[in-house]
Amino acid sequence: MFLKNKKIILGITGSIAAYKAAFLTRLLVKEGAQVKIILTPYAKEFITPVTLATLSKNTVLCDFFYHDDGAWNSHIELGLWADLFLIAPATANTMAKMANGVCDNLLLTTYLSIRCPVMIAPAMDCDMFQHPATLKNIQTLKSFGNVFVEPASGELASGLIGKGRMEEPEVIVKHVADFFSKTKKLSGKTFLVTAGPTYEHIDPVRFIGNHSSGKMGYAVAEKLAENGADVILVSGPSHLNVMHTAIKLYKVTTAQEMYDVCKKYFSKSDGAIMAAAVADYKPATINIQKIKKTEQNHNIILEPTVDIAAFLGKIKKKNQLLAGFALETNDEFSNAKKKLKAKNFDFIVLNSLKDEGAGFYTDTNKITIIDKHNKTEKFELKSKAEVASDIVNKISTFF
Ligand code: CTP
Repeated sequence: MFLKNKKIILGITGSIAAYKAAFLTRLLVKEGAQVKIILTPYAKEFITPVTLATLSKNTVLCDFFYHDDGAWNSHIELGLWADLFLIAPATANTMAKMANGVCDNLLLTTYLSIRCPVMIAPAMDCDMFQHPATLKNIQTLKSFGNVFVEPASGELASGLIGKGRMEEPEVIVKHVADFFSKTKKLSGKTFLVTAGPTYEHIDPVRFIGNHSSGKMGYAVAEKLAENGADVILVSGPSHLNVMHTAIKLYKVTTAQEMYDVCKKYFSKSDGAIMAAAVADYKPATINIQKIKKTEQNHNIILEPTVDIAAFLGKIKKKNQLLAGFALETNDEFSNAKKKLKAKNFDFIVLNSLKDEGAGFYTDTNKITIIDKHNKTEKFELKSKAEVASDIVNKISTFF
């Protein structure tokens, strides 16, 4: 529920993309938003108020007043109610009027009097979109501080191919969610997060790896982004996908590749959360050809990989946060405390394979956070998303 209790006015204008507004309304409501809809008179030709009223659970507004009893639809009150005015689809005509202060319908009067941020998702034919008049209007609206969800390229209702198709409702909802999360406690901060295993090549078909799924690191990355941060997620091999648009994913395979990306981005980050299960050793040489089976024992000489966390701990500046994980099977506390000190972490997240529901294979985890001042907090068994929330709460105390 990214949008719980957020108040959104959805303005719909007369474009064929208006049919997508039904899906958009449904998704916004599903994410917890309260949605009030304003249609321009032409929008009613493309989508019915009944459909939208049913989906939004609110009366749909179109005219300045009700013809039956003269009741007035106050655009001023509407404007004061909203946290966001989302106009999707926005036609070239409506944008031209918005850019020039024309207010000949309820949507436009609401736009002129609104105090909350405005987000616009244009929809039109590619030639209309490229026309200097439209581009100039978009520039003007941007200069007013209005936020744009750029239209996508592809096949248009006219049959032409080009840029102008309104973005899909899922993408627009993501933009809305990201927009709101920017006002959260970690907005303006950037974090580096490592996740997943690393694979160290033996030959072209074999590697040394581990059972890490990446779930914990990805969950931390998502929570950081939900709290307004930009995230650079450096992930070893994992089947997981990134949901939040504020997360930039770098896929790597080996410890060395993970190190190279971390080294590049750490200085630009406010902190790093080291959730990857990095291989401690790699084959000293990688066989170029596949190693053939023989009757003899086969030895592989292993050499240590680079310790990424320890390296970042050495170069860390005072205003940067560094947090690590310790997955232990025995002497959990003393091992975790040793790592906390050795790698110069500000805090370490300890989980023990002795705890049922903790570790690699599960969707849950049971953690203890130990910080550099020896403050220890134990948490119950929770879903990895909830555990990520606890970790992000701890991160927030440093900023
Ligand atoms: N780590 C890292 N680079 C490595 C090894 C570990 O960044 N080459 C990070 C992990 O992401 C984790 C922390 O260091 O945040 C501790 O990792 P862990 O594997 O538990 O510790 P090691 O130092 O490898 O010690 P050991 O495997 O002997 O327990």
